Amino acid sequence: MSFFENTRKPVGFGGKIMVAMMNSGHGAMADWGFGHITIAEDASILDAGCGGGANIKKLLEKCPKGIVKGIDYSEVSVEKSRKVNARAIAAGRCEVLQGSVAELPFDENSLDLVTAFETIYFWPGLADCFREVYRVTKPGGTFFICNESNGETTKDEKWVEKIGGMTIYNASQILTALNQAGFSDAKVSKNNKGWICVTARK
Ligand SMILES: C[S@@+](CC[C@H](N)C(=O)[O-])C[C@H]1O[C@@H](n2cnc3c(N)ncnc32)[C@H](O)[C@@H]1O
Repeated sequence: MSFFENTRKPVGFGGKIMVAMMNSGHGAMADWGFGHITIAEDASILDAGCGGGANIKKLLEKCPKGIVKGIDYSEVSVEKSRKVNARAIAAGRCEVLQGSVAELPFDENSLDLVTAFETIYFWPGLADCFREVYRVTKPGGTFFICNESNGETTKDEKWVEKIGGMTIYNASQILTALNQAGFSDAKVSKNNKGWICVTARK
């Protein structure tokens, strides 16, 4: 297994290195993405495919009276996320669960915001997973997707070759899956680095 496969599912020692790298390496993109959403101070949030938990930490700062949950199917990601957010977990404001986005262990209509940073590339059946996000999102709530790769550049092919099971979606494919899942009012933003983020409303 190549080291880069740890982006799909971090495992073992290589996975531990990868989640630490992702926590710092994805920071600039995440900060750009956060500029496209409004977060209420008492929001209930899920970070899906949370990796090493750096974005959970940022979300907790943005909703000081709210709660942030994380889910990831990698044991290594969950362990790191719990470590990074140990104080908020102890304070009852954060919970990190091991599980798949294909079957979210949350009540329907329970979350104001679901975020997905650098993770939908690996989700099994995009529209089906988006339907699951739709189920747990409150009416009027937001689903936010942020990716470093927008499916339109030649570098995308290099990543797909390196990482088995990765699909890089372009804006139109993301919008189609959101629509199939029931979301509306989708908005796409891109920048000159090839980053893309999409917001959609339930
Ligand atoms: C490239 S990392 C991104 C992590 C983090 N969101 C970030 O921006 O740094 C992708 C993460 O999504 C998780 N992931 C991929 N498919 C998943 C699925 N079906 N259910 C839950 N987590 C998943 C992986 O385990 C990994 O931690």
